[in-house]
Formats: sequence, structure tokens, C-alpha cells
Amino acid sequence: MPSEGTTVLEANALCLRFGAVETLKSVSLSVERGEIHAVIGPNGAGKSSLLNCLSGFYRPQSGAVRFLGKDISSLPPHKRAALGISRTFQGIQTYPSMTARENILSGFHLRMSTGPFAALVWWGPTRREEEEFAARAEKIIEFLELEQLRHTPVGDMSYGMRKRVDLGRAIALEPSVLIMDEPMAGMSNEEKEDLARFILDIREGLGIPVVLVEHDMEVVMSISDRVTVIDFGEVIACGTPDEVRTHPAVIDAYLGDAA
Ligand SMILES: Nc1ncnc2c1ncn2[C@@H]1O[C@H](COP(=O)(O)OP(=O)(O)OP(=O)(O)O)[C@@H](O)[C@H]1O
Ligand SMILES: [Mg+2]
Repeated sequence: MPSEGTTVLEANALCLRFGAVETLKSVSLSVERGEIHAVIGPNGAGKSSLLNCLSGFYRPQSGAVRFLGKDISSLPPHKRAALGISRTFQGIQTYPSMTARENILSGFHLRMSTGPFAALVWWGPTRREEEEFAARAEKIIEFLELEQLRHTPVGDMSYGMRKRVDLGRAIALEPSVLIMDEPMAGMSNEEKEDLARFILDIREGLGIPVVLVEHDMEVVMSISDRVTVIDFGEVIACGTPDEVRTHPAVIDAYLGDAA
């Protein structure tokens, strides 16, 4: 087990119910510094629910979520985001009439509206802040190779490029951890390869650990350091891609012959 101090985000024995449906049954997961941690499992297993508990959109009935050792279970999503827990959503979340650059800049507004000077937000950012944000947006544009599309409205972009812009928005605030729910869904193979490369770069170049739910097993097995497998709201395995790939319960529940 990793020593104390390396855990960035942690779910401890989360139980989540919707009426009579037990969506998560004592689910635990830890995201360590510098790792890409995938969560896999059949449809309806509870993967998105787990991510929603980490980001604060769902409140489990019991269990705790900790960020850098601090219990954040009672914090709403925007406060968790302000602490450095960033996420991308399934589908398209960018503003279609805004350019790539403007969408990425929108990622900075969060800090303005939730920081210690939130009461002053209606004055807008100061000139110095605006310049700082512009410079950082430019760095992200280069990092994600969006230079050619800097001033293109995202509504005119391919699905894959829009997702890339959304990723730029999510990393704008230099988060401590990035949560992604099925980032590759609906992408072409080429778009998936590009995104996989950027996820690796985010971990290596920016030092941001990533927790992602993804159904594309080729991608999961090639980029993840660890994989947690959920079935019917329970963790049935957690380990390296090789460990889970050959785990009998995982093969039974999810991978079948595909592994
Ligand atoms: N807001 C909600 N209200 C009621 N039930 C919900 C809610 N969110 C999730 N559930 C239920 O919890 C269970 C797990 O759903 P969840 O979306 O977490 O699955 P998943 O593993 O992400 O599936 P998929 O691979 O299809 O995205 C399902 O039975 C779902 O119907
Ligand atoms: Mg889901």
C-alpha cells in the first residue's frame, strides 16, 4: 500500500441509495499522486455515481470522501472544484458560440466566484488577473495543440476537438486531481489516441492525477496505472491492468472473452 501523504482523493466505504436501489455498497477507492486510475464495470454498475460522490453532485448516505487527508463529505460541488477537484462531463459541456480560448478562460471564473474575495466578483477580474489568465489560457492552448482553433467557435468543431476544449477548461485552474466520465465515448479511433496521449501528458507534464471511467478496454489497459472494477455497486477488484485483466471475477462480470 502507498504510504500516507500520497493519497490525493479518497472514497471510504461509500453507501449510496436511491429509494430501494443500493447504487453503491461500501465502495472505497483511492487516487494516488501521479497515477491514472480507471474505474470500469458493466452498465449501471455505479461508476458515474461514484464519480458524482467524489465531485459532490451526489451525497452518499454513509462513508466519507477525503481530499488531501481532509474530510470534504459535506462540501458542495463548487467548493470541491475550488479546492482543486476538477471534472469533465459525459457528452458536450462547452459553450458552442464561444471560441476555444473563451471556453478555456471560462474555467478561471470559478476561482473568481468562489475564492476569498467572492464578494467582489461583480467588479470582474483585475487587469493583472486578466493578463495572468490570458497567459495561462495560452499555455493550455499550446499544451493541447489547439493553436489553429484558438478563435474558432467550438460549435464549428468536431466532437473530438470540442472535448479537447472542455479538457482545457477543466485543467485551467491547475487542479490537484481530474475526474473524467467516459471521455472517449463517441470518439473516432484517432480522436481516442489523441486524448489518451493528452491524459498521459496531463499526468506526466502537469503532474495531475486522473480518475476516469471508460468503457474502451484497450485505452484503459494501456494508459492506467491502476484499475478498480465495480459490479452491482461493489468493488470486485482493484489492481494493475494485468492483475484485473486476469482476475476471474472481473472476467465473469465484465471482460468475458474481450480481455
Ligand atoms: N440520480 C439518480 N436517481 C436514481 N437512480 C440513479 C441515479 N443515478 C444513478 N442511479 C442508479 O444507480 C445505478 C448506477 O448508475 P450509474 O449511472 O452510476 O451506472 P454506471 O456504472 O455509470 O453505468 P454506465 O456504464 O451505463 O454509465 C443505476 O441503477 C441507476 O439507475
Ligand atoms: Mg456512467
